[in-house]
Amino acid sequence: MSTTSTPSAPRGLDGVVAARTRLSQVDGLAGQLVIAGYSIEEIAGHVTFEEAAHLLWKGALPTADELKTLSREMSAKRRLPENTLSVIRAAAKAPPIDALRMACATLSLDLPNPDDISPAADFESAKMLAARFPTIIAAHARIGAGLDPIAPREDLSLAANFLYMVHGKEPDPIAARALDTYWVTVTDHGMNASTFTARVIASTRSDMVSAVTGAIGALKGPLHGGAPGPVLDMLTDIKTAENAEPWIRNELEQGRRLMGFGHRVYKVRDPRAEVLSKVAEGMAGAHLEDRKLFDLARHVEQTTLKVLDDVKPGRNLKTNVEFYTALVLQAVGLKPRQFVAMFACGRVAGWCAHVIEQHAEDHLIRPQSEYVGPKGLTVKR
Ligand code: ACO
Repeated sequence: MSTTSTPSAPRGLDGVVAARTRLSQVDGLAGQLVIAGYSIEEIAGHVTFEEAAHLLWKGALPTADELKTLSREMSAKRRLPENTLSVIRAAAKAPPIDALRMACATLSLDLPNPDDISPAADFESAKMLAARFPTIIAAHARIGAGLDPIAPREDLSLAANFLYMVHGKEPDPIAARALDTYWVTVTDHGMNASTFTARVIASTRSDMVSAVTGAIGALKGPLHGGAPGPVLDMLTDIKTAENAEPWIRNELEQGRRLMGFGHRVYKVRDPRAEVLSKVAEGMAGAHLEDRKLFDLARHVEQTTLKVLDDVKPGRNLKTNVEFYTALVLQAVGLKPRQFVAMFACGRVAGWCAHVIEQHAEDHLIRPQSEYVGPKGLTVKR
């Protein structure tokens, strides 16, 4: 019996360049993120989600007229078709990210030609997906609470309208701005697992709704987008600054990972953590409870970095985007179970842009595997 003869590949495609892209660049050693030419610090908090989406989909920030048109078209697409609402009702008890995946899959029913992957059709699908994701999550939250979904308003920004549909009252402009900044911060991030998933699906000439539905499945895992819910649980569990170090050491002794720390690419602090810590700090100024949580989070962050350095020397485990995401999202009144679905609302802009890029590339992504099983077995006759 012989075994493999194919060459070894890096585990998890670590370090493999899987695509050429104009969309974003992650420099893990310098701690820099570039989105279509702009550093993340340059755009987050300075352009709206709709502007960032235009940058990714069209390659440039919109002119005032282009922004007006895009915002009007996306606002008009916010309302959900009945088919999608029925699936959300059926998924009322499921986690929001699963409801989003199921509901997203139904959105191709509302397209004139779901298999059209031309640039014009992809642009239409991108606008529709980005416009409807927040409506899906808001409707799911209301239905899950035994309430009727609130119809979207067209006069509000995407983020403000989302908060209006979830909370059922005029949105707080500071909260809407914080959520908008969060969405811009996570729009795109190199060849992460969910983006790669979307590109693989698109590379088969499959459609944008299929690619984005698959990407949602990849995002939900705790090693990717599912970390901020557990980050908040961790802070709730730790409760006080004195508890931080023993709690953290115990987690590591038990062989568990600390959520919100470590990254496949960043070996220094994730630049998005810096952006979001400022947003969280700004939000914390308004409410005493948020201030207390923010101060605790700062202490837990510093303690975790020190303990990780001690227990896992040389691994360069630093704060990632998810740590302060948790604080921003709780401060705008969302529940931990909704956090990963909020991530999808921002990242959908990037997924759609990668699908557009991959469809233009028109080359099947099809790596090889290293066979490590037996050969030459025979069936007993
Ligand atoms: N806490 C404790 N130890 C950790 C952590 C962590 N958060 N992350 C990595 N390590 C340790 C591993 O146990 C391993 O230790 P060992 O050498 O003693 O075996 C070493 O660091 C290397 O770990 P890998 O799994 O090889 O690193 P990888 O690059 O595959 O992992 C990942 C990256 C998945 C993000 C990891 O750091 C992790 O699990 N973090 C916690 C979850 C999290 O915050 N996810 C969000 C990531 S950001 C995003 O996707 C948007």
